[in-house]
Formats: sequence, structure tokens, C-alpha cells
Amino acid sequence: MSIPAIETILRSAKDALHQADTVKKLEDVRIQFLGRKSALTALLRSLKDYPAKEQKKIGQRANEVKNAIKELIALKVKELAVIAPLTPHIDLTIPAKKLSVGHLHPLTLVAESVERIFQSMNFSVVGGDEIETEYYNFDALNIPAHHPAREMWDTFWIKQSKSENSKNRLLLRTHTSPVQVRYMELHQPPFQIIVPGRAFRYEATDASHEINFYQVEGLMVGRDVSLANLKYIIREFLKKLVGRDIAIRFRPSYFPFTEPSIEVDIKMGNQWLEIMGAGMLHPNVFSYAHYPPNEWQGFAFGLGLDRVAMIKYGIPDIRLFYSGDTRFTRQFR
Ligand code: FA5
Repeated sequence: MSIPAIETILRSAKDALHQADTVKKLEDVRIQFLGRKSALTALLRSLKDYPAKEQKKIGQRANEVKNAIKELIALKVKELAVIAPLTPHIDLTIPAKKLSVGHLHPLTLVAESVERIFQSMNFSVVGGDEIETEYYNFDALNIPAHHPAREMWDTFWIKQSKSENSKNRLLLRTHTSPVQVRYMELHQPPFQIIVPGRAFRYEATDASHEINFYQVEGLMVGRDVSLANLKYIIREFLKKLVGRDIAIRFRPSYFPFTEPSIEVDIKMGNQWLEIMGAGMLHPNVFSYAHYPPNEWQGFAFGLGLDRVAMIKYGIPDIRLFYSGDTRFTRQFR
């Protein structure tokens, strides 16, 4: 074999490698060019038959070409190792998988719109703690210990906090109203705030009662805030929230911390659903906040956020909100 013949082997090996696009084809190329029956192997084996002068030249070039082909194969192996595992799996006709991204819970959505509406009416949004003292949850709201009115709120007590002083006895707040006196202790009127948050009650659950639920407390204090202002704000708020005309009913009621007190119902189907308690702040509550007597007037309300969400979305059972069932929550994306 001559030197040009060896160069031809190298060229055809390169061509064959270029076309080898699977591991199987690569192996065929290796056998063809470097295998026992290959031209190159035969040549190296028969070198001894060549005249001494050519033996060296041809032998050297044949070995170089053999090594070059080996290296090219090794390179190609690496190349295929990267691509090969992927190629058979790509099927561009398969419909894309739907990515499941998170979304807000319906109660969060309603809380956000409630906040937006009250902010548009110049109310500020304020926070409060879920663990409260007996003092702020009851005493400062004109509900002394052993008063029958306490039974309006079945309470989860935190047993570890034993104390003689109701300012140190802890409970899970039964309503958002403790924020009223807490806020008034630190701020001078006039102001108007809302306080969205969670409340807890140790009571039997049914379609409109949960043991933990959300309320939005409202508090407006000024020189001449009246019951008419309260009714106006509530009507405006509900109109903006539900976005359609709904039947509302104001009923006289009783709360120790408001006088007069009212409750507000909304018509759901052919039933009335109670959505909030409200009223004009009781003078005793102002004294707990250390405001001078007869200087300020104000109203407060406690809105049941779950109930409002039930009306807005037509949800028949409050327990669905806390079921963790994604077939329910998914619908509010
Ligand atoms: C109160 O909690 C008073 N703090 C409201 C208030 C605030 C009155 C300020 C006056 C001034 P009541 O217990 O009625 O009142 O609850 C108020 C609203 O919370 C109810 O109308 C209802 O919408 C909601 N609510 C009460 N208990 C539950 C419950 N177990 N599950 C779901 N929502 C509830």
C-alpha cells in the first residue's frame, strides 16, 4: 500500500464519522477502519514484507492515521453522549404540560377588595394580634368578668397563662374588636381605620359558622360621627363590593361596647345572612381608652369576611374555605 492510499483511508474514515449519528453507527465505523479485518490493520501486519526504506515511512504514517482515527472516534463518542439521550425523547407534537402556578385563596381576594374599597373611602388598614389578653378582648370593651354578655363569645383560653390580672391572661381573640381600645390608646381622633384579621370561637360548626374565621373591624372616631354616617358607609361598601344591588337589612341588636347597636343582614337566595355587628361606641369604651368624656363620637363595626365572600361568590357553605380542597380553591384563579 502506498502513502496516498493511507491518506484515502483517513479521508473516508472522516466522512464515515461525519455521518455516524448513533452509537451503533459509530461502532460500525470503528470496526470498519480499526477492526481486525480493516485495511489499516492488514497493512500494519504486513509491514515486514515491505522493503526496509518504505517500511519505516509507511509504518509511521499508518500508525499516525490509526491514532488520528481513534481520537476522532473518541471525540464523536463524547458528542453523541450529550445528544443521544435527548434526541429520541423529543416529540414536538405532544401538547405542552400545563404548569400549575399558585394563586390567591378566595378569602384573600375578598380581603384585598374590602381593603381597597375602605381605602378609597379614606380608611387606613391596621393590624392586630390573634393572641390577645382577656383585658382587651373583654374588659376594655365593657364586658366585665362573669357578665352574661361574655357568653356571646365562646372562648379558646390559653391555659398556660394563669394570672390574677386579666391584662396577662391570654386567649385566642374571639373578634377583632380588641383593636379598638388598643388603637385609641395610641392615637388621637379624628381617624378612621379597618382591621382585617382572624378570630376564633369554641363553637359548633355549620354552613355559616366556623371555629376560626375572618372579621374586618371598622372604627371611625371624630367630633360628630353619627349612626347615619355608619349606615351610609356600610351601604356604599356593600354596593362597591358585590357590584350589584343587594337587599340589606339593619336590625336593632345588643353589644356591650356599642349603644345603640345594630346588626346587618344580606339576602342570600330567600334567606337573610347576618354579616356584621355594629353601633355607636359606648362611652365606657372611650374611658378605657382614656379619652376625656363627651368629647368624641364614633362608630364601630365587625364584618364577617367569610360571610361576605359567601355572598360575593355564591358559596353555600363556609367550611369549603377551610377544606383545603383544590377543586374548590382552583375556581378563584
Ligand atoms: C362581634 O364579633 C362584634 N365584635 C361585632 C361588633 C364590632 C359589634 C364593633 C359592634 C361594634 P358577632 O359575634 O355578631 O359580633 O360577629 C360579627 C360577625 O362575624 C357576624 O355577623 C358574622 O358575620 C361573623 N361571625 C361570627 N361568628 C362567626 C363564625 N363562627 N363563623 C363565621 N363567621 C362568624
